[in-house]
Amino acid sequence: FSAFLTDSFGRQHSYLRISLTEKCNLRCQYCMPEEGVPLTPKADLLTTEEILTLARLFVKEGVDKIRLTGGEPLIRPDVVDIVARLHQLEGLRTIGITTNGINLARLLPQLQKAGLSAINISLDTLMPAKFEFIVRRKGFHKVMEGIHKAIELGYSPVKVNCVVMRGLNEDELLDFVALTEGLPLDVRFIEYMPFDGNRWNFKKLVSYKEMLDTLRQRWPELEKLPEEASSTAKAFKIPGFQGQLSFITSMSEHFCGTCNRLRITADGNLKVCLFGNSEVSLRDLLRAGASEGELLRIVGAAVGRKKRQHAESGLGGLGWGSASDHPLVNKRDC
Ligand code: GTP
Ligand code: 5AD
Ligand code: SF4
Repeated sequence: FSAFLTDSFGRQHSYLRISLTEKCNLRCQYCMPEEGVPLTPKADLLTTEEILTLARLFVKEGVDKIRLTGGEPLIRPDVVDIVARLHQLEGLRTIGITTNGINLARLLPQLQKAGLSAINISLDTLMPAKFEFIVRRKGFHKVMEGIHKAIELGYSPVKVNCVVMRGLNEDELLDFVALTEGLPLDVRFIEYMPFDGNRWNFKKLVSYKEMLDTLRQRWPELEKLPEEASSTAKAFKIPGFQGQLSFITSMSEHFCGTCNRLRITADGNLKVCLFGNSEVSLRDLLRAGASEGELLRIVGAAVGRKKRQHAESGLGGLGWGSASDHPLVNKRDC
């Protein structure tokens, strides 16, 4: 495996997340304000050619999984083309997308043909009115249609990302799990994380342990599945159910030790950790005509600076009261 993509703790970064756009057609309360996020001028975003050049380089060095994120990746007009061209890269085994599902049913047949292999869909409630409250837009039925389309086209499991927030949707845990009885879904309950300006508050965080207790009361037979290497999620299954459920415990039990992820933001910055600022502008290097060797050296140096874990990981470190009190400043990558 490439020395450039291996950090000083021996973690091999074989999973690259590429943000295709900062824009989104929803306005989830936990992610962005009503007016949206400040957008980078178009000229400063990576072009499709630049995305492909970087992807090719990382795949050559050992990346075997690329996930397209956003904002909402499906609003980038050339997303199908990007998937098709990524699909031609030898060595790339998985092309995933994380989407809010609004445009999924419409685009999925083309995306599948282009080579899309894995789908994660964000959905935080099963109640249409609450959906509109959380995301400040309409579209619940479109998302459900997207989920069913993904199942129909054979994606398995279809992952559903549910950010759990106290007082908002924590009462729907059982309903989400019930969905996995007859559908090949992996419902993933995500601990609510502070992002810059998202009104995060410690009291709204429902921890993994608490969620697990709630589910065990209803389904004592809940069974833990073996851990997959480098997965963000702890998986469980109810015997007899088609699907499964998982927990993404970013706050209470960080998984930095097995992190294999690097990120490229829509404006071309390399980020070596979700909780961290951009390290280096790959876009500027590309536009200055940097050679492959120079790019790799700079990527390698950034990876080499990656910390063992993010500074505020673990519930023990959560001494702050609101998102604005603490140092985790992020651009969301959905
Ligand atoms: P798979 O590739 O299917 O395993 O998905 P994923 O979990 O890598 O990606 P997804 O885009 O579905 O992200 C789901 C959640 O995982 C996000 O809300 C984050 O909470 C969390 N997550 C993803 N990457 C990281 C990371 O590098 N660090 C931390 N702490 N959380 C992450
Ligand atoms: N905390 C936890 N997860 C979040 N996501 C977006 N904002 C937050 C947050 N504050 C989730 C989205 C998406 C995934 C990539 O990140 O719902 O499914
Ligand atoms: Fe859009 Fe995802 Fe943010 Fe919701 S969480 S507003 S779907 S980028």
